[in-house]
Amino acid sequence: MQYAAVTTRLAGLGSDKWLLSNAAIARARAGLEVINLTIGEPDVPTPGSLIDAAARAMAAGRTGYSNGRGEPALLRALSDRYSRMTGRAIGQDRFLCLPGTQTALYLVFQTLCDPGSAVILGDPMYATYEGLIRASGADPVPVTLRPEYSFRIQASDIEEKITQATRAIFLNTPHNPTGAVLRPDDLDAICALAEAHDLWVISDEVYGDLTHGAAVFTSALANPAYENRVIATASISKSHAAPGFRSGWLCGPAGFCVRALPLSETMLFGSQPFIADMTAEAIASPPSLAHAMAGRMAERAAIIHDALDGVAGMRVHRPEAGMFALLDIRAISGDSQQFALDLLHATGVAVMPGASFGVALEGWLRLALNADDATTAEACRRIARFAGAEAA
Ligand SMILES: Cc1ncc(COP(=O)(O)O)c(C=O)c1O
Repeated sequence: MQYAAVTTRLAGLGSDKWLLSNAAIARARAGLEVINLTIGEPDVPTPGSLIDAAARAMAAGRTGYSNGRGEPALLRALSDRYSRMTGRAIGQDRFLCLPGTQTALYLVFQTLCDPGSAVILGDPMYATYEGLIRASGADPVPVTLRPEYSFRIQASDIEEKITQATRAIFLNTPHNPTGAVLRPDDLDAICALAEAHDLWVISDEVYGDLTHGAAVFTSALANPAYENRVIATASISKSHAAPGFRSGWLCGPAGFCVRALPLSETMLFGSQPFIADMTAEAIASPPSLAHAMAGRMAERAAIIHDALDGVAGMRVHRPEAGMFALLDIRAISGDSQQFALDLLHATGVAVMPGASFGVALEGWLRLALNADDATTAEACRRIARFAGAEAA
């Protein structure tokens, strides 16, 4: 019996990356105490108003088949939201609704890439990106994101990696795990490069509503000069504390959506009308839940900074957005996975090893900002004690 080559390409790129998270869950199941800072979950439950909206829609019979593009009310709401955000009309024909950013990105790569295509992206990167690209048959071409540029991907670094095989530049802003937010100038330089080499620009913007402090999010769709080559993806998973609803979308050129639609229909045969109704309601209102959450997460990043920066030679990188802070442990250990496993077993604190996010973040740890302040502070005390012992 034979399996498709894609299963070999993806072996090791799925749950293996989440070894620490799974170890933390196993530890908790065994009745041991755990402070789990591995996964970027919202720090509040899905608002009751959104659950009510979905329940009302279900009770009203919105449980039949949908269509491949998305329900009309949601497409209208998305068109309104993106038109407001960009200051120009973004038509409904530029959206496809999908079960989360993850699925939207999967569809984008299936639509744009062939075996042998190359996709340029930053390293570190979100843990599923390599799999997303390899599933399409394309090869990921990493560009090291440099701390001296606050981990913002540089057009000049991208340019060095462009070859005949390059099909797309893949951005993530705000970025997981570094929390970097690309500036309009960064995006213009990258899009101009894409234009010069006739490449697509794909942008994962799932953390767009979660900027901290004075940071300002700019979508890759902002500059109309490049809108024929930019595809942005997002969802309500983070912004509305609703990851389990699996409700996201992509926004790209109308022609791209026409090409992608049969692929989406073949896989999904439409989405769930009651979730579409709830999502339409969610994105029509101001992102107050996201802003409050981002405020709390910024404060926790400050707690981590104050508690750990400079301790035992460690450095803390504070994010401009999103749900994570980074801890540079290179002064103590070059093996982030072993350090994280030892930390978990010794202290009950679970964090993600930088190695789960690419080569460039080896020697770093990613700490989620979703535990309350007191728990975050306690996790820091345990990390400081453990690091001090390791460093000694
Ligand atoms: C950068 C990034 N992209 C995509 C996702 C998945 O988002 P969704 O729930 O919308 O599929 C995540 C989830 O953590 C993420 O961090």
